[in-house]
Amino acid sequence: MVKVKVFDSKDATSKPRERAEAAAHDAAAFHAVVEARRSVRIYTDEPVPEEVMWRCLDAAQLAPNSSNLQAWEAHWVRNPEQRKALAAICMGQPAAVTAAELVVFVARPDVWRQHNQWMIDRLKADATTPAKGLQYFEKITKLVYTLGPFGVLRPFKWLWFTVRGWSTPTPREPLSLGQLATWAHKSTALACAHYMLAMRAEGFDSCPMEGFDALRVRRLLGLPRGAKVTMVISSGRRAEGGVYGPRFRFPRETFVKEHA
Ligand SMILES: Cc1cc2nc3c(=O)[nH]c(=O)nc-3n(C[C@H](O)[C@H](O)[C@H](O)COP(=O)(O)O)c2cc1C
Repeated sequence: MVKVKVFDSKDATSKPRERAEAAAHDAAAFHAVVEARRSVRIYTDEPVPEEVMWRCLDAAQLAPNSSNLQAWEAHWVRNPEQRKALAAICMGQPAAVTAAELVVFVARPDVWRQHNQWMIDRLKADATTPAKGLQYFEKITKLVYTLGPFGVLRPFKWLWFTVRGWSTPTPREPLSLGQLATWAHKSTALACAHYMLAMRAEGFDSCPMEGFDALRVRRLLGLPRGAKVTMVISSGRRAEGGVYGPRFRFPRETFVKEHA
């Protein structure tokens, strides 16, 4: 059986761990932004300045993402005709029709191999890259994400994951194109959250939407079949009545399950 050690904590636990300095933080400002973000369904006619859009898109790209393979895209639909068509594809919902800007966040499970190679090239070009860092992209990611042409490797992977899993913790997914899509959606959704919080921090608002026709979105943007639309996010300046009612969440204990 192939011997693979995905993670090694020996170095991290064999010596005292000193506290490291991190860049400035402002918890109060962060929580204020989180609390102020609402899904806004009606916007004013005010445009979102281009520099605000770029800052929010850059914030989106800084989201954590699996293996740093960045299997995502943000399609900023700037063409007015296309934007109108996209609003119609979002079934004419007010959050899309009244929006100043629309961005389609797309998960790209189909590009993981190309991005993996980009990571290898980048790490090889950097003389300070530790061997383990390179090994991760040369061995582990390939092992975990490869499904083979038409998924031919899936039964072998399943067998290998299962047998290995009897004796040691083993990553058991992705074993299907659907699971690979879920893998890419997870990271793309985090980029969406970054984008929406950044929008609010800039004084503008947003609405995530999954009420759209994914096939038509794909055609409008010329996306390949392997691309999966995660969300369409509208942005603009909040209008009177644009927030539908007070915010509501179920009690915390329905969400947080403590394992003390
Ligand atoms: C994946 C996803 C899809 C959503 N789709 C829509 C949508 O199509 N139309 C809409 O008006 N709101 C949509 N929403 C917004 C939710 O209804 C909203 O986030 C929820 O009611 C909580 O309200 P809040 O965002 O103001 O806290 C969506 C949110 C998410 C995360």
